[in-house]
Amino acid sequence: CGIVGYIGKRDVAPLLLEGLQRLEYRGYDSAGVVITSPKSSGLKMVKAKGRVRDLEARIPKRFTGTTGIAHTRWATHGAPSDHNAHPHLDPENKVAVVHNGIVDNAAELRAKLEADGVVFASETDTEVLTHLIARSQAATLEEKVREALKVVEGTYGIAVLHADFNDRIVVARNGSPVVLGIGEKEMFVASDVAALVAHTRQVVTLDDGEMATLKADDFRTYTTSGASTTATPETVEWEAASYDMGGHDTYMHKEISEQPDAVDRVLRGRIDDRFSTVHLGGLNLDAREARTIRRIKILGCGTSYHAGMIGASLIEGMARIPADAEPASEFRYRNPVVDPDTLYVAVSQSGETYDVLAAVQELKRKGARVLGVVNVVGSAIAREADGGVYVHAGPEVCVVSTKCFTNTVVAFALLALHLGRIRDLSVTDGKRIIEGLRKLPEQIGEILKLEDEIKELAAAYAGAQSMMFIGRVRGYPVALEASLKLKEISYIHAEAYPASELKHGPLALIEPALPTVAIVPDDDLLEKNRAALEEIKARSGRILAVAHQEQEKADHTIVVPKNEDELDPILMGIPLQLFAYHTALAMGRDIDKPRNLAKSVTVE
Ligand code: G6P
Repeated sequence: CGIVGYIGKRDVAPLLLEGLQRLEYRGYDSAGVVITSPKSSGLKMVKAKGRVRDLEARIPKRFTGTTGIAHTRWATHGAPSDHNAHPHLDPENKVAVVHNGIVDNAAELRAKLEADGVVFASETDTEVLTHLIARSQAATLEEKVREALKVVEGTYGIAVLHADFNDRIVVARNGSPVVLGIGEKEMFVASDVAALVAHTRQVVTLDDGEMATLKADDFRTYTTSGASTTATPETVEWEAASYDMGGHDTYMHKEISEQPDAVDRVLRGRIDDRFSTVHLGGLNLDAREARTIRRIKILGCGTSYHAGMIGASLIEGMARIPADAEPASEFRYRNPVVDPDTLYVAVSQSGETYDVLAAVQELKRKGARVLGVVNVVGSAIAREADGGVYVHAGPEVCVVSTKCFTNTVVAFALLALHLGRIRDLSVTDGKRIIEGLRKLPEQIGEILKLEDEIKELAAAYAGAQSMMFIGRVRGYPVALEASLKLKEISYIHAEAYPASELKHGPLALIEPALPTVAIVPDDDLLEKNRAALEEIKARSGRILAVAHQEQEKADHTIVVPKNEDELDPILMGIPLQLFAYHTALAMGRDIDKPRNLAKSVTVE
């Protein structure tokens, strides 16, 4: 979900709609806006099921004001509909709330309020907050909000407008991001800098348990218990233009194309040729400590989890430290043994995914050391971690991740090299990996030139009901990620298997109607992988191979440039991003905003 708010002198509705458009990738099943102005006595609201453009179409001519809050929603409680869209107003139209997150005790609070005669207009958990604030007898809006938050359990990023206090917006954060944008005689608030950067690059990121009051020419921050906090604005490094589509038809296409530059950025300034290693300034881990690590556990969700799997194999291979990756959501619910000699690494593009953040918090509570591999600078996970590596991919807007995935894997290669060189990786191997890393941007560029060929292949496979993806050892996470990408944007069912497991079950599915995409790197497992292709061919299965040389058993081979064995997975995934893209395009899908998904899931 996304929140945006403004207080100043400008006409607020167009500003908020533009902000919502920038946030739409965070949720897009309904949207709403509420506005007021110092002169007006009431709140004016418009909401609509659907996209921001559906909301825009409903805005009446005289919808003017200079203060307002708006929301784009990804449904958790209550189906997408007009009345479940945010903002939520109280029956007297005095209080409006937009909310990201989940009120865990909503049902209980709702029952209490209903017993008191309150009539609810929606099924959302957020409406509870509106009524609590509206019914508070406290003298100031800040106190009313504080009182309401006292009884609320769960996560929130909220923005509140009140008709009787219309010189301000009050906001609060607990688990869902809230960023203030500081302008000249105008203030912004949003759940993501994406909505602000067109207007100001001076931002203040609230901490959990922090609130703020925004007035046109002033802001102040304080805790939910009322104590003042100090907030120094920081400058956002990403330019407004990096959030535009830049001549591409979709953000996904733009972001795939940006990968040579993005990889260049994650490497820049970090390679140390003298010692054949890398410098990772934010790691906060000295060589002596690094040598005491006995295990590495990597946690992430979705695509970041897959990047973490490749990361684990890079670390295990180069640093010879046992490493594995696990979905953060699973990890936090199984009461894991938290071992003092284990280094935990949290992976998240947004730095906000709730399941990852909660895992980090649980680990820290148990005294573990946690690093972050994160794209968004200053995000919650980056701040919560003891240190980490920024992946510097630049903003990623398409819901499905491409350039961030690639950059995250490269960041893991850097971490693996760094740890390896502190432990047993030789100078020669260090040099070899560095040379391989340096080749990546150009080699990615070469792969991107295969787009026309891949587009044709995609057209040939777009009719499939289902697809199988296989890979072995290093190739398996590549297969997992490629199959995720395909299902997310084309809605074709796809599953990924280790090539070695084929004969233990999934081979039963193989027939001409079920194509297989196989990852076949030219490494010590080449012959083994070829044997898997034989098995499939013997059952008349169609095969698309991604390999370093034409594969005889495959119906089609996408030939990619060879790098060092360890780094091959980085390159082998890239043609399959284009494959998923063109398959989805051929099927007429909404690529940047696939159904039912959201870019960052800040709820459980
Ligand atoms: C959501 C997105 C996925 C993403 C995952 C983790 O589910 O739809 O594309 O991989 O969150 O996001 P993160 O920001 O933590 O990398």
